[in-house]
Amino acid sequence: MVEKRIIEREDFSRMFKIHYDQLPEQFLSGIDRVNTSYHEADKKELAEYILYILKLLNTPEVARSMEENFQAWNKGWDENLQSILQSGIDLEILKAKYFRGSQFFRYDNKLIIPENNDIEYDLFVLSRYIIFSKYLCEYENIYEFGCGSCQNLLMLSDMFPSKRLYGLDWVEPSVKIAQKLSETLDRNIEGFIFDMLNPSPDIVLKPNSAVTTIHSLEQLGEKHDKLLSFIIAAKPDIVVNYEPILEFYDEDNLLDYLALLYSSKRNYLSGYMTALRELEKQNKIEILQAYRPFLGGIIHEASLIIWRPL
Ligand SMILES: C[S@@+](CC[C@H](N)C(=O)[O-])C[C@H]1O[C@@H](n2cnc3c(N)ncnc32)[C@H](O)[C@@H]1O
Repeated sequence: MVEKRIIEREDFSRMFKIHYDQLPEQFLSGIDRVNTSYHEADKKELAEYILYILKLLNTPEVARSMEENFQAWNKGWDENLQSILQSGIDLEILKAKYFRGSQFFRYDNKLIIPENNDIEYDLFVLSRYIIFSKYLCEYENIYEFGCGSCQNLLMLSDMFPSKRLYGLDWVEPSVKIAQKLSETLDRNIEGFIFDMLNPSPDIVLKPNSAVTTIHSLEQLGEKHDKLLSFIIAAKPDIVVNYEPILEFYDEDNLLDYLALLYSSKRNYLSGYMTALRELEKQNKIEILQAYRPFLGGIIHEASLIIWRPL
C-alpha cells in the first residue's frame, strides 16, 4: 500500500527557515490552490528515474556553448514576448517554456512521485513569494540579474508596488518584456542589457539596493569571478542568490550524484560557494545565510545564499 503525503505550510516554514506566522499572504492563498500530494518513489520508479537521467546525459544537446546558450535564451524569451504582444500580460504568460511538467520531483532528500505533474513550477512560484518577503522587503531598489521573462519582477511588483525594480539580462527580449510590464501595467520596472560574464561599469546601483539572482548564475559555469568583483564594487546592501550550489550536494547520495553529473555536463555554476567563502576569509564580504531547502527541481535543486559586500 503506497503511503500518500502532502507538502504543507509547515514544510515551507521548515525549508525556508521562516516562522509560520511570517509566511506571506501570497504564499498562503497560493498553497491552497496547489495539489501537493505525493508518494515516495518505489524501486521501480527510482529505476525509471535513473534511466531517464542517464539517457538525458547521453544526448548531445545537454552540453551547450555560451554562444548556443545566448541564442537559446534570445529565442525562448522572444516567444514569451510575442505571446505578450498578442494576448497581454499575466504571470502564466511569463512562465518559461522549460517547465514541461514531469512525473518525478526531488523533495526532502528523496525522489517523489507527485500527483500534480506541474508541481515543480507551482512550488517554485510559492517559494519565491517566501524568499521575496523574507529577504527583499526592506530594500527600496531591487535588481534582478538574469531576469529572463521578468516573472520575478511581476511578482515583486505585485508584492511591493512602491519599490523600484530593475531587470537585467544579456538578451534583448527580456528588456522589452520589462518595458512592456512598465508601460502596460504601470509598474515601477526598468530593463537593461547586462552581461554577467562581462558586467558593464555603466550599471550603477542606487543606495538602499538589493541584488537577486534566481537560476541565472547557474548559467555561468565557473565564470563568476568578474560578476563577484562587480557586485563587491557596486556595494548593494544585500545579495540574494537562489541557485543550484554544488558544494551543498553529497557525492555519496545517489540523487545528488546524478545532479552533480547533470550540472557538470551542462556546465552549470560551479565553485561559487567556495569563492564566496574565500572572499569572506579576506573580509570582503559577509555571508549571512547559506542553506539548501531540499526542494526540487526534477534533476537538481536551488539553494539560498544571502550575503553582502563589506
Ligand atoms: C533559467 S533562466 C532564469 C530566469 C529568471 N531569473 C527566472 O527565475 O525565471 C536564466 C536567465 O539567465 C540569463 N543569462 C544567462 N547568461 C547570462 C549572462 N551572461 N548575463 C546575463 N544574463 C544571463 C538568461 O538569458 C536567462 O534569462
